[in-house]
Amino acid sequence: MRLTTSRSLRDEYIWLALNLDQDPRPVSGPTGLGFREIPREELERDPARFGVTLSDVRHPVPRRFFAGFLADEVVYRMWVFEAHDHLLGRLPDSVRSAVLPSALAVEGSFTPPALRGRSIRPAALTWLAATARAEGMQQILLEIRRTNIASLRGTLKAGFKVMTR
Ligand SMILES: CC(C)(COP(=O)(O)OP(=O)(O)OC[C@H]1O[C@@H](n2cnc3c(N)ncnc32)[C@H](O)[C@@H]1OP(=O)(O)O)[C@@H](O)C(=O)NCCC(=O)NCCS
Repeated sequence: MRLTTSRSLRDEYIWLALNLDQDPRPVSGPTGLGFREIPREELERDPARFGVTLSDVRHPVPRRFFAGFLADEVVYRMWVFEAHDHLLGRLPDSVRSAVLPSALAVEGSFTPPALRGRSIRPAALTWLAATARAEGMQQILLEIRRTNIASLRGTLKAGFKVMTR
């Protein structure tokens, strides 16, 4: 019975990966869109500006925070962490074997409703891919609920490939 439950939970999600063996094809979002990493001190000073809470910032798993901006307005956010054992342990076998040694995973990504559908997510993911590649990383991983069509479409536009069906 437990096996059935965990299997069906796994089936709710799709894993996607972007391998960084070559430069990602950048997707450009709206004119003026830019991204940068937000240091922890800046997040702690004004978490609400970035749509997060202090407990998000003090999460036990070390992770980095990146934001997208149009002028001074925050128009995208995502947490990025190294795909260590805590992630690898819960991956389906079929996915674990395709994970490269230096992999990053993305979670908590968000575009404000009024700005959706303008390719901010694919622009963010391709920007992150170029940044991660320059840092020597090999792969970016994403876990997306099967029913989250907007997220799946935005992720595929960035060049990610489905690892599980
Ligand atoms: C998923 C999400 C980050 C996509 O961001 P985005 O910047 O709008 O991405 P895109 O512009 O590439 O749009 C992706 C898809 O969203 C859908 N979309 C378009 N306009 C939309 C709108 N106004 N409102 C909602 N969805 C819209 C379309 O299906 C679009 O795909 P298409 O351009 O091929 O038609 C955003 O919808 C979001 O923050 N959702 C809530 C949080 C979430 O699901 N995060 C991801 C968890 S894995």
